[in-house]
Amino acid sequence: MTQLVRFGVSLEKELLGKFDQRIRSKNYTNRSEALRDLIREDLVRKEWQEGKEVAGSIALVYDHHKRELVNKLLDIQHDFGTCIISSQHIHIDHNNCLEILAVKGSPEKVQRLSDSLKAVKGVKHSALGMSTTGKDI
Ligand code: NI
Repeated sequence: MTQLVRFGVSLEKELLGKFDQRIRSKNYTNRSEALRDLIREDLVRKEWQEGKEVAGSIALVYDHHKRELVNKLLDIQHDFGTCIISSQHIHIDHNNCLEILAVKGSPEKVQRLSDSLKAVKGVKHSALGMSTTGKDI
């Protein structure tokens, strides 16, 4: 079982006030939980910066009537095959598709995949969710 450690933190009253206000608006019940999440977010950012194996998601929205666009997106996905671990295609309406890719691999490769998909003409929106494999946090 994980050992819990208590520690004291000194900081300016005004800064703590702002933090408390912020965490209340995000529905945290206590400071410890909010601090844990901040620390984990920083550790995940570090994993991306240091080139460790990361995981995440890429969400794409595009119009499937543009056939060339669909082919280009597929070509790129095949080129980066090993770092795409799952994909889901949702037909949002008559025109628009939402594609969600679960990705895992080196940050450089995942970022390159995301940039390549985003740059395809006709992609309406693309968002990279930078997450973690969870091994080191
Ligand atoms: Ni579709």
